[in-house]
Parts: sequence; C-alpha cells; structure tokens
Amino acid sequence: MNLWAAIPAIGYEKEFIRELEYRSLKPVLRFESFYLFEGDRKSLFWSQVEWSDVQKRKIESIGNAAKLLKNEAKIWEYYSLNENGRGNLIHDQLSKFKFRAMNEKLPSLGVYTLVSKEELLFTKNYNRIDPLGRFFSVEDERSPSTARNKLYEAVQVFEIAEIKEKKILELGAYPGGWTKALLGLGANVIAVDRAELGVEFKKYKFLDFRKGDAFKFTPDVVGEIDILFSDLICYPEKLLDFVRLWQESGLVKEMLCTIKLKGECDFAILDKFAKFGMIRHLYSNKHELSWYWSAKSFS
Ligand SMILES: C[S@@+](CC[C@H](N)C(=O)[O-])C[C@H]1O[C@@H](n2cnc3c(N)ncnc32)[C@H](O)[C@@H]1O
Repeated sequence: MNLWAAIPAIGYEKEFIRELEYRSLKPVLRFESFYLFEGDRKSLFWSQVEWSDVQKRKIESIGNAAKLLKNEAKIWEYYSLNENGRGNLIHDQLSKFKFRAMNEKLPSLGVYTLVSKEELLFTKNYNRIDPLGRFFSVEDERSPSTARNKLYEAVQVFEIAEIKEKKILELGAYPGGWTKALLGLGANVIAVDRAELGVEFKKYKFLDFRKGDAFKFTPDVVGEIDILFSDLICYPEKLLDFVRLWQESGLVKEMLCTIKLKGECDFAILDKFAKFGMIRHLYSNKHELSWYWSAKSFS
C-alpha cells in the first residue's frame, strides 16, 4: 500500500483539519503535526509540504537506521517529531544540507522521521523544494514590504521561469514590495493601486504606475500581457470572476494571485479556483492562499 504524508501549514492546522474533513481524508497515523495517509497523494491547500512514496521500516539501532538511509540517498533532512535524541543521533551519521539562498541549486535530498523508537519513515519525493516546506526569506532592508518574500517564493514554487522583459500587470501594488522585486527581476510593470506608490518609485523607467480601481484593468482596457500578478485584498468570488475574464480573453499567459481569506475559508469557492489552477499555502502566506494558472498547463 502506498503511503503519503502531510505537514500542515504552520499556524493553520485548524484549516488543514477542516480540509481533511471536507475531502473525507482520514490519516492512518497522526503524530503531532504529522499526518500519514494510505493511497495516492492528494494535493491539499493547507499543507506546508506533502511527501509521496513514504517508506516505513523497522530499525534495530541508530547505526542500522543510518546505514539503511545512506543506501537510499546521499544527503538527508530530519523532521524532528518523536524520539528526537535518537533521530538526531541518526542525523549525526548522515550528510546534512543547509539552505543558504533562495535560488540555490539543491541536491537530491531525502527526509526521514521517527514515529517511534523502532519505526522509521522516509522518502525522497515531496511537493516542495525543501522537504520540510520552508522558504528562506530574502533580506532587503530597502524593500517597502516583506510581501516580497511571498512573490519570490511563489516564483520558485510555481516555477515561473522567466520574469525578465515580461509585460506584467500588477494589481494591489502599494506599498511596492512586489513592484520593486518584479522591477529587480527585469520586468516591465504596469502597477495599479488605489494608493500612490512612494516617490522612490519615480526613478524606474520600466514602471507605469496607475492610481485607481484594479478591477477596471480588464483585458479590453489593458490588451495583451505576459503575467498578471494580484495581491489585492478583495473577496475571493470577485477575484475569481476577474481572473476568469482574463483567462477567457486569451490575452494572458500566466497569473499568480493571492486569495485573501476572512474567517474560516470556503472550500467550495477554493475548489473553483483549483479547477483551473493550482492552490498552495506558501511558507510566506498568512491567512491567505496563493493561486497560479498558466495557459500552457491549464487551458
Ligand atoms: C496586501 S496590499 C499589497 C502589498 C503589495 N503586494 C506589496 O508587496 O507591498 C493590498 C493592496 O491592495 C489595494 N487594493 C485593494 N482593493 C483594491 C482595488 N479594488 N483597486 C486597487 N487597489 C486595491 C490596497 O490599497 C492595498 O494597497
């Protein structure tokens, strides 16, 4: 029987549990923030990371576990859950990896955990770059907001290959964290917000800032663009209608939007987004989800 596992988004375990109920998914094992399931992996909105092809082995000793893992992969990450002393001693015998930079080329990493003294779970397959689903933030003291991390992480997670020289429509731009990041990546940006960006943005010749209501920036008004980015605070239903309009116009190739949530999320509306795109809770997301669509993958 296939085994897969999920670790809930930190701080959003309540939504994760609601999602399991909504999808009638019952774990075969739950230990703290670790959920193990039988069958094929399901993509969950509220997981931090999901592991596929999870292997379960009985181990007799620390040395025995280390030897077993060394035969499977070169470098290992440890998810500390239970029997931490033993888990760390195993890790001491393995090659470790430390993330240092956002775009670092990563080696193939295995990840393991202990659910009891003798029970080892491990895998080499997971749906994020980091097997624990973390993102190492980009320090930039001069950036107008930390929202930039959400953008950088989304670009990495959804594999948006090229931003350079792309024509971008960015909605909900103020105070400019995403705008500055996009300009830094070499994009041509039309940025829209009801609030004016600071004077420091006047110097960018590849920025066209428009003050006003973002929902007026429809395909017939803007014309062809490469990527639509939105970090607008609005009702999910309104955003859904708007991105559908853009998708149906055929005038956009990719869209990346934050779905802002109030209170408990409505899975029915999220499923509508997921029908023609991918939803994930990113490490840098708060009470919101990131949604990505590309004409290539979801037409
Ligand atoms: C979360 S903030 C965006 C932060 C920004 N992405 C950054 O990196 O700094 C959301 C923005 O959406 C703007 N907004 C919300 N509804 C809007 C609308 N209908 N038209 C234009 N801007 C809107 C707000 O003014 C606010 O500045």
